[in-house]
Amino acid sequence: MAGKDPLLVVEGVSKRFGGVVALDNVSLRVGEGELVAIIGPNGSGKTTLFNVINGVIKPDSGRVIFRGVDVTELPPYKRVEMGLARTFQIPRPWQGLSVKENVAVGAFFGSRRARSITEAMERAEKVLEIVGLSQKAEEPAAKLTVVEKKLLELARALAMEPKLLLLDEIVAGMSPADVERVIDTVVRVRDEMGIAVVALVEHVIRAVRRAAERVVVLHQGRVIADGAPEEVLRDPHVVEVYLGVPGA
Ligand SMILES: Nc1ncnc2c1ncn2[C@@H]1O[C@H](COP(=O)(O)OP(=O)(O)OP(=O)(O)O)[C@@H](O)[C@H]1O
Ligand SMILES: [Mg+2]
Repeated sequence: MAGKDPLLVVEGVSKRFGGVVALDNVSLRVGEGELVAIIGPNGSGKTTLFNVINGVIKPDSGRVIFRGVDVTELPPYKRVEMGLARTFQIPRPWQGLSVKENVAVGAFFGSRRARSITEAMERAEKVLEIVGLSQKAEEPAAKLTVVEKKLLELARALAMEPKLLLLDEIVAGMSPADVERVIDTVVRVRDEMGIAVVALVEHVIRAVRRAAERVVVLHQGRVIADGAPEEVLRDPHVVEVYLGVPGA
């Protein structure tokens, strides 16, 4: 763990929906500037955990502590103000605005809000450079490709200058080349901006192996492994969960 104090602590979180136990006593920690992937098969509780961390869902029990503050009862926008930004699985840019304008809007939210349009635009230019979209800055967002829209979504979140970025299924359904581009960008964001990243990934194990420093595996609402990718992805229980073959 990079920082002395963990940036995010999830402590004994449980959540049920009727008879379904979506999360069962889940605990995990994320340090400052860490790059963590949360993986797990369908229905394992990934999205529910994500929503508990960002405040969309309140857990039945357990706590979420962000930057030393118990945020379990705080609404999502308060957590955004504290430096917790997220992306959405389906990007929804304002189609009529330019790429740069879309990103500039993000600069008016978050932990260090822009005080003027000029400042917001300057910040937008900076983050567009980091995600590699500078050349598209003046184009309408509607003209971007699918992968460029994902990078725009990432840039919008970065314009909030978060301490922790939650990425929801950022590479789902992409071609291998696009996956590489997005993963490389996420790694660069962490390296250049020092932002901790927690990424939800369903299946893209190769990308996880290459980029993540830590992998947390969920299965039926429980954390079944948490550690370095090479160890976790060799773990017999994890292999069994993904392939359905013990010891495969
Ligand atoms: N709002 C809800 N109402 C009822 N059941 C829910 C609700 N949200 C999630 N569940 C159930 O909780 C369990 C965990 O779901 P969750 O969406 O967190 O899993 P996931 O790992 O994100 O799955 P996927 O890979 O399919 O996105 C599943 O059994 C799901 O059907
Ligand atoms: Mg999900």
